[in-house]
Amino acid sequence: MEWQSQLIIVLKFLVVCLFVRHVGAKGFKNPETGTVWKIVKSTPEPNFEPYLLSTSQLIREEGFFVEEHAAQTEDGYILGLHRIVNPAAKNSSSPPVLIMHGFLIASDNWLIQGRDHDLPYLMADADFDVWLGDFRGNCYSRRHETLSPNDDLFWDFGPHEWGYYDLPAMIEYIRHETKKQQITYVGYSIGGGAFYLMCSTRPYYNNYITSAIMLAPFVYGPREKKIRNNLLNFAKHAIRGHKQHERFEVFKRTPIHLKAVQRLTRIDAPSFKIMFLLFMDFFGDDIDQLDMLKFKQIASAFGAGTSLKAMEHMVQLYESREFRKFDFGRTRNKKYYGTIEPPQYNLTKVTVPSCIYYGANDYFVDFESIERLSKILPNVVKKKMVPHKKFNHLDFLVATDAKALLYDDVISDAFRIINSE
Ligand SMILES: *[C@@H]1O[C@H](CO)[C@@H](O)[C@H](O)[C@H]1NC(C)=O
Ligand SMILES: *[C@@H]1O[C@H](CO)[C@@H](O)[C@H](O)[C@H]1NC(C)=O
Repeated sequence: MEWQSQLIIVLKFLVVCLFVRHVGAKGFKNPETGTVWKIVKSTPEPNFEPYLLSTSQLIREEGFFVEEHAAQTEDGYILGLHRIVNPAAKNSSSPPVLIMHGFLIASDNWLIQGRDHDLPYLMADADFDVWLGDFRGNCYSRRHETLSPNDDLFWDFGPHEWGYYDLPAMIEYIRHETKKQQITYVGYSIGGGAFYLMCSTRPYYNNYITSAIMLAPFVYGPREKKIRNNLLNFAKHAIRGHKQHERFEVFKRTPIHLKAVQRLTRIDAPSFKIMFLLFMDFFGDDIDQLDMLKFKQIASAFGAGTSLKAMEHMVQLYESREFRKFDFGRTRNKKYYGTIEPPQYNLTKVTVPSCIYYGANDYFVDFESIERLSKILPNVVKKKMVPHKKFNHLDFLVATDAKALLYDDVISDAFRIINSE
């Protein structure tokens, strides 16, 4: 018996060694929480040429270097992360900042106007270590450890999973790569809402963020519904149609779709004006701030793919004006949540200091949404209306004067809070 028990000890030792090597090679452990995070290789980016350039292509065109990374979530999704490397950076220990996009779009929507206009480039030029994330489901984050985008189950997610799983995975990854304790967060629209969702459901992550700079954070829908009913009904109609046909991916970015949009939005096409006005109708009129020459690209980059469930949840948030979990309907809510109404996210748990910007002509996030949000959040250090009367939801991304009206402020906020530490 003696040799057998010794053999077992030796075998156990070997297994432990193998396991440790495995973890060492393909993951990292957060010593504070004990969670092990897997590391996976990034995959080549999707190619949308000749219609659009990818995030990496755009970054390189502007004279920066780019690193492509991937962060794996605890539930197996593999998310694209782009790091902008500024070859002229004066400081090698720049503070990391994670910038997150809004609904139906992707990291490339931040990069449409070029080096002297777009927030990520401006931050990189100000010596920040800039990371652009992509939520599960869009064209840069369509990968999973075991599921394929052809599986219906792959598409069973929405804003809840963006906040609960995706943001922690990206934040852990960036902390690990940069060896920095804390990072700065910039979120636009639901990229802001998902951040607050994370801090309320997993308050531990408050510790890892210096400040959250929010551009029109979508948490509470607007009081006054300015989007025309026919546009909203169109969305609901699309949701019903997709459900009937059991198609769980919506607005997928494909060459066919891109080609069609680009034909319709070519500046010399007869349909240009109609498309332009439709956009203005949807987002709120601000013709001064929308560059007609860039419109084709703006319209094409819109629609980077997401799930039907995400779209349904967004409509629910917009209409109910409550920041709460997905509404399955009374009976199924009772089954999943134990209550007839879906549970609310508890925003009093968000302790990160927030700087919040909003637009006077925003159809999705209005003054009332922001007032209500900032009364509940315990640590709002700044709340500011962008000083342009017609500033709409889209302008936060692509306004021709966004630098002077907004981004310069964002950068000085980020500096101020980091330096006051
Ligand atoms: C570089 O960054 C570090 C830490 O953020 C700071 O202490 C230092 O003063 C910076 N150096 C320059 C030259 O900006
Ligand atoms: C929300 O969180 C706060 C702070 O942790 C707690 O005191 C409060 O009871 C929570 N509210 C609800 C409704 O769970």
